[in-house]
Amino acid sequence: MLKDTFGRKIDYIRVSVTKQCNFRCQYCMPNTPFDAFDKDEYIPLDNVLEFLKVAIDNGIKKIRITGGEPLLRKDLPDFIAALRNYSKEVQLVLTTNGFLLQKSAKILKESGLDRINISLDSLKPERIVQISKKDGLENVLAGIQEALKYNFGLKINTVVMKGINSDEILDLFDYAKHRNITIRFIEFMENIHANHNLLGLKEKEILEIIKTKYDFETAKDQIIGPAKLYSCKDGYQFGIIAPHNDDFCQTCNRIRLTADGIICPCLYYQDSVDAKEALLSKNPQKLQSVLEQAVYNKPEKNQWDTTMEADKISARAFYHTGG
Ligand code: 5AD
Ligand code: SF4
Repeated sequence: MLKDTFGRKIDYIRVSVTKQCNFRCQYCMPNTPFDAFDKDEYIPLDNVLEFLKVAIDNGIKKIRITGGEPLLRKDLPDFIAALRNYSKEVQLVLTTNGFLLQKSAKILKESGLDRINISLDSLKPERIVQISKKDGLENVLAGIQEALKYNFGLKINTVVMKGINSDEILDLFDYAKHRNITIRFIEFMENIHANHNLLGLKEKEILEIIKTKYDFETAKDQIIGPAKLYSCKDGYQFGIIAPHNDDFCQTCNRIRLTADGIICPCLYYQDSVDAKEALLSKNPQKLQSVLEQAVYNKPEKNQWDTTMEADKISARAFYHTGG
């Protein structure tokens, strides 16, 4: 079992398989050209697989595949199938913008993927264009429908931005509720790659809007994870991810591997472990060593404030670290 120096058990790893993305979300990388990334720097997925086998042997229980946009990688289903073949128990989950999901839901199910988180920030096509620079709503909604068909555990992630989609909180809530999909509203996390003029809504403001239509209370059974869960009277649960709250880091159970082979112990912390050589070697002792080093390096709290001072907020992009 992996434990950090503050006694937190680390049993979750997020793996970014590409920095590339077919969207350019305002909160992520609105000004990055579509051809900005070089494919050659990626560690081949069969090397990543060997690392994850070591991680599973060390007690990792959940692997989230992220990006960029992970469905841009054609070899993803084989990678998932190989992980599933190695462990029947490990939870295999995916975060996607949903644009390519309709095409791939079936093969992902057959590969052994358990759950999918889909980003959905608006139900208005022109707003999706405004937010992500891609006319993608129709595809995303079709992707959600298809994923429902295959009984994936689904979640919707919505970043709430003042004056952009904050008037759609209830519409998005109802869209998810009617399909019995958990929706999680996420506070915008300031970072230097995002649109600098964006303002996010905080947990309290989001809850106040939901309260105008629904009665809810803090859910009795909170699952371990970044979202705080709330239950409506009829049992429907939704979540808020509020990293601006002081206690956010106390239950952190994760580390991150980037597509180019860096292990990041924390999203907002510059110290990281360069695992490229170990990954390329496939040597189990070297892989064990970089894994342990990353867990050892994990800081108690994120080193972040929201004043956008370059030395305080992370320069590392979410599309690099996998969000
Ligand atoms: N703030 C909050 N959430 C973010 N995400 C990405 N960047 C940010 C940010 N700056 C989340 C969004 C996105 C998912 C991949 O990660 O929910 O849909
Ligand atoms: Fe792409 Fe996700 Fe970043 Fe949006 S948030 S640009 S979908 S990587």
